[in-house]
Amino acid sequence: MVKAIVCTKLGGLDTLELRDIVIPEPGPGEIRIRTRAAGINFPDSLQIAGTYQHKATPPFVPGMEVAGDVEACGPGVAAFKPGDRVFATTGTGGYAEAVVTKAAWAMRMPARMSYVQGAGFPVTYGTSHLALKYRAALKAGETLLVLGAGGGVGVTAVETGKLMGARVIAAARGADKLAIAKDHGADDLIDYAAEDMRERVKSLTGGRGADVIYDPVGGDAFDTGLRCIAWEGRILVIGFASGRIAQAPTNIVLVKNIAVLGFAWSTYRTHKPAVFADSYRELLAWFEAGKLTSHVSFTYPLADARIALATLLGRKSTGKIVLTT
Ligand SMILES: NC(=O)c1ccc[n+]([C@@H]2O[C@H](COP(=O)([O-])OP(=O)(O)OC[C@H]3O[C@@H](n4cnc5c(N)ncnc54)[C@H](OP(=O)(O)O)[C@@H]3O)[C@@H](O)[C@H]2O)c1
Repeated sequence: MVKAIVCTKLGGLDTLELRDIVIPEPGPGEIRIRTRAAGINFPDSLQIAGTYQHKATPPFVPGMEVAGDVEACGPGVAAFKPGDRVFATTGTGGYAEAVVTKAAWAMRMPARMSYVQGAGFPVTYGTSHLALKYRAALKAGETLLVLGAGGGVGVTAVETGKLMGARVIAAARGADKLAIAKDHGADDLIDYAAEDMRERVKSLTGGRGADVIYDPVGGDAFDTGLRCIAWEGRILVIGFASGRIAQAPTNIVLVKNIAVLGFAWSTYRTHKPAVFADSYRELLAWFEAGKLTSHVSFTYPLADARIALATLLGRKSTGKIVLTT
């Protein structure tokens, strides 16, 4: 038996309970990981509420990324052995002292990566890198506008966009979040709670607008983004943290020759595993070279998963929140 946070029914955070559960033996192609740390992601809250695209049926253990030690390997797993330090995505099951996942979804961690850094790495860096490099084909010298730039995926979009050679404009609410974006390489900062984002982007780009917009926020931020995007710009639809799914008016899409690019990172694991693996390879090389910081603003013990999620939903965190076992 191991300790785990169980979602007992779909709803709010009060449906989460700390329980003892049994972790099965890994099946063919699977590994069991002794979890040292688990990343918190906004989509975890959607899964608990029952509004996420990947539905889970209660009782289930939330959590889509972990770092830890391989404890057992199922039949056919040659890439890992017990004792290997790995990070992995899991679908669900991450908020537990152990989890079974596909070996193909795990990566060996660099020696200089801590378990806390590793647990917060795969989803946010994976999302931003693949979205910017592969889906939006961001080019050096282009202007990238990152919305929600102090949040989990936001900070990594700033960092990876900068490493790809873009000029990065970070937009977020409040000086603290903008300071984090600046620390991660942002060239220009916009407090979209206090400033007119459209006017600021226009003035920063000589009236042209942003070539690529990375939008994990949706709602009003998306609407304003469409007003300050360049001709032939691309807007990446990453998420709807604001709670409103914006609608793209096709007259503006037409007149400005814009591409509205939907992006769901986890689907690349199955649809384009080679592209997915290449993305991790570049990210890990950057990490090894000291180019990525893996910013974690809060850690909580596993038992405090509710507090951790409430901190995230209260917009109090920057970068990642990680649970430790
Ligand atoms: N497409 C994909 O493959 C993929 C992968 C991972 C995550 N996502 C999505 O990306 C979004 C962000 O995820 P995350 O883990 O980075 O979350 P996060 O760390 O909480 O960041 C979300 C940011 O959104 C902003 N925000 C605006 N209105 C908000 C509200 N009402 N409540 C909470 N935040 C609000 C906040 O910044 P300010 O306070 O500065 O506005 C916050 O920093 C989520 O919608 C998630 O589902 C998508």
